[in-house]
Amino acid sequence: IAVQDLAGKAILITAGPTYEDLDPVRYLGNRSTGRMGIALAEAAAARGARVDLVLGPTKLTTDQNGITIHNVRSAREMHAVSVLKWRQADAAILAAAVADYRPSRTEAGKIKKKDGPLTVKLVRNPDIAAELGQEKKPHQRLVGFALETENGLENARGKLKRKNFDFIVLNSPNDKGAAFGHTTNKIQLVTNNKVTDFELKTKAAVAHDILDALVQEL
Ligand code: C5P
Repeated sequence: IAVQDLAGKAILITAGPTYEDLDPVRYLGNRSTGRMGIALAEAAAARGARVDLVLGPTKLTTDQNGITIHNVRSAREMHAVSVLKWRQADAAILAAAVADYRPSRTEAGKIKKKDGPLTVKLVRNPDIAAELGQEKKPHQRLVGFALETENGLENARGKLKRKNFDFIVLNSPNDKGAAFGHTTNKIQLVTNNKVTDFELKTKAAVAHDILDALVQEL
């Protein structure tokens, strides 16, 4: 049994990809499996938190006690549930790989192939993180993720400020064994004035490192 240092806390976690439908059979998605977010939910629940896990489409799941799963598909669905749950939460950890864009319309019928190229117009999705950051109350803590292929630290600090995160988890898909699809991850925790480096670990162990940092902030 883990230390109950999150007892009585309500934590919102977003995880997984989002799927943005083009038509009834096709969508735009990404390679996120939700594994890191699910590991965070399990670790937080083990430490006594009540967890709302807003989970995009993935074959992974969890049946651990203390976790309420909200299955969603699109960024807009994830946005709606997250905004609602944020009002009652003490902290949120936003591990989802939310699509920045969606097709401007979802066709009612399957798109037929024709000669020549097909142009699809994409429009911006809501930025869930930025919105929760804007509505953040003094007692609430907000943790974001950044997946960067270049200028990681600089970009992470930009996001920290723009989205009003308390700290950000930076991982690079360039690191061997880290980020999408792996069972391990290698992270840096980034605040305005501090960077903490961690070794390559299982996502379960990484989850506890992130929660240790969160507990310090709560
Ligand atoms: O701007 P970027 O997508 O790199 O920011 C990453 C962080 O913001 C992650 O924590 C991600 O879950 C969150 N995010 C979000 N809604 C979006 C885009 C990103 O919550 N539409």
